[in-house]
Amino acid sequence: MGEVILEAKRLSKTYVADGVQTHVLGGVDLQLYSGDFTCIMGPSGSGKSTLLYCLSSMDRPTAGSVIFEGEDLVGAKEDELAKLRAQRFGFVFQAANLVSNLTLFENVAVPGYLKQGRSAKQTKVEAERLIAQMGLEEVAAHLPSQASGGQKQRCAVARAVVNEPAIVFADEPTGALNRANSLEVLDLLSGMNAEGISVLMVTHDVRSAVRGNRVLYFEDGSVRGELELPAWDAALSGDEAYVREREAIANAWLSSLCW
Ligand SMILES: Nc1ncnc2c1ncn2[C@@H]1O[C@H](COP(=O)(O)OP(=O)(O)O)[C@@H](O)[C@H]1O
Ligand SMILES: [Mg+2]
Repeated sequence: MGEVILEAKRLSKTYVADGVQTHVLGGVDLQLYSGDFTCIMGPSGSGKSTLLYCLSSMDRPTAGSVIFEGEDLVGAKEDELAKLRAQRFGFVFQAANLVSNLTLFENVAVPGYLKQGRSAKQTKVEAERLIAQMGLEEVAAHLPSQASGGQKQRCAVARAVVNEPAIVFADEPTGALNRANSLEVLDLLSGMNAEGISVLMVTHDVRSAVRGNRVLYFEDGSVRGELELPAWDAALSGDEAYVREREAIANAWLSSLCW
């Protein structure tokens, strides 16, 4: 187990809309470890996305703290957080959210120029390396509108890691993809994790969740259960028996939580 990379203490979030309060996070205590691939499962509407956004400083919690590398993000100024997100965090969402008038290559390279201590030339080389790693060379000069859903999401993964983040936050990253494309995106995330990037992924799908070496079950605003698995073995990624065995373990665990 690595060191604690991100920690939530008594994290709460209450939305107020039209005078109605919705308590989504009820004082979450959570530690994420460096090098882990952590997955969060739970029913729709249970607050998984809210938790991810509060942990990643995309949204402000109502109370509590989020500590990343010793710094409390809840008290930090917005410009500091923007810098932190650009330098140290990567994001992948259900939709690729690429910039429509930039090519796939530019979508990867442009945020890369925000990385401190790296020349434009080095960033270009890194973006080219990632484009190749994601299997996007042939469409690198295309606009997102000329790329398939799977290609766009692979591009989004490349964009998420171009700045060599400490941690990638992924919210249902395969939610809009077919099976084959989901598998590719999950393999890319597993590959990034094997290279040392921590991953926090929200998913409602057991087959995706077993990518993690740690699976959390989130319900009614708090973590209800936790499963530890051996780290994903990339060499066995295409081995149906291997995946089924992990799924069986996760399903038994979910049943024990009365899911
Ligand atoms: N911006 C918002 N304003 C008001 N309510 C919200 C907002 N975002 C989410 N919610 C509510 O918070 C709850 C949790 O949402 P969410 O975190 O998206 O859950 P999940 O990702 O587990 O499906 C839901 O009841 C949702 O309707
Ligand atoms: Mg969600």
